[in-house]
Amino acid sequence: MDQDPKRKYHEPVMTREIVELFETVDGGVLVDATYGGGGHSRALLSAYPDLDIIGIDRDTAALARPTPDRVRLHQRAFSELGELLDELAVESIDGALFDLGVSGHQLDTAERGFSYRDPGPLDMRMGPNAPHSAAEIVNEWSQDDLRRIISKYGEERFAGRVAAAIVANRPIADTAQLAEVTRNAIPAATRRTGGHPARRTFQAIRIAVNDELAEIQAALETALDRLAPGGRCVVISYHSLEDRIVKRTFAELAQGCICPPEIPECRCDRTPEIRLLTRKPIGPTPAEVEANPRARSAKVRAAEKVAA
Ligand SMILES: C[S@@+](CC[C@H](N)C(=O)[O-])C[C@H]1O[C@@H](n2cnc3c(N)ncnc32)[C@H](O)[C@@H]1O
Repeated sequence: MDQDPKRKYHEPVMTREIVELFETVDGGVLVDATYGGGGHSRALLSAYPDLDIIGIDRDTAALARPTPDRVRLHQRAFSELGELLDELAVESIDGALFDLGVSGHQLDTAERGFSYRDPGPLDMRMGPNAPHSAAEIVNEWSQDDLRRIISKYGEERFAGRVAAAIVANRPIADTAQLAEVTRNAIPAATRRTGGHPARRTFQAIRIAVNDELAEIQAALETALDRLAPGGRCVVISYHSLEDRIVKRTFAELAQGCICPPEIPECRCDRTPEIRLLTRKPIGPTPAEVEANPRARSAKVRAAEKVAA
């Protein structure tokens, strides 16, 4: 069934915090790299009346809706940010926002195949240019490759058992069958803990379908590179694999001299490219989690470009 038309496209997460973190951006250009339903963009536009936004989303559904005046929206993977800015003749940007993962609309539309709760096709592509479909991965990849992604991208400790069960039950017809096969592969005692037993496997397949982690790494590097001095990059991540990439990338660029302490003078000539605005990630308030359970795992990290 398609999404209930009365249901909101996406409930944006930690909007107040995001608007505050961009307090320096008014009068500039901000890239909303994960435009979705435009909830964050709209809040930023109303807080900062002289802000212009370049929106990006790879999903056709996100592009099919009316966009506010000060938003130029483009259907791209955010790893193509550099090419897009070149095409638009935008040399530097004043802000970059990444609200990672899938939108409420994607999760709630059973035909997209993201949900382990509602039956749908094995798709999980965030946009038409995704490198794979879930059907291809589930029904064609080797058991070893399946085990590898389920372990790495799902951090599923029973990845070997799940991969073997998938291969033994091929062809798998839809998400309902995949959820069932996965559930049965997890030992009964574990099934009762830590949420739905198929959650980790679905996350893993979704990450592989959309090459999500490589996307994040590439786009973050470009965004930080293209920020003007004083410009800010803010990232909302939802699981440890995403957050690890953000944390490492920020830490590396925030690091100054790396010469050993016994060397009297610096030889590396490294100076920090960014300043961390969040030493520890910011999380949602309990009230927000209660109102919007999808905010539960959100972690926000932010950094500011330092003058060269
Ligand atoms: C969590 S939602 C963002 C919601 C948005 N902040 C709002 O307020 O409505 C993530 C969105 O980013 C898009 N997305 C995820 N990865 C992407 C990528 N690599 N390139 C472009 N868009 C991506 C998804 O299609 C989805 O619409």
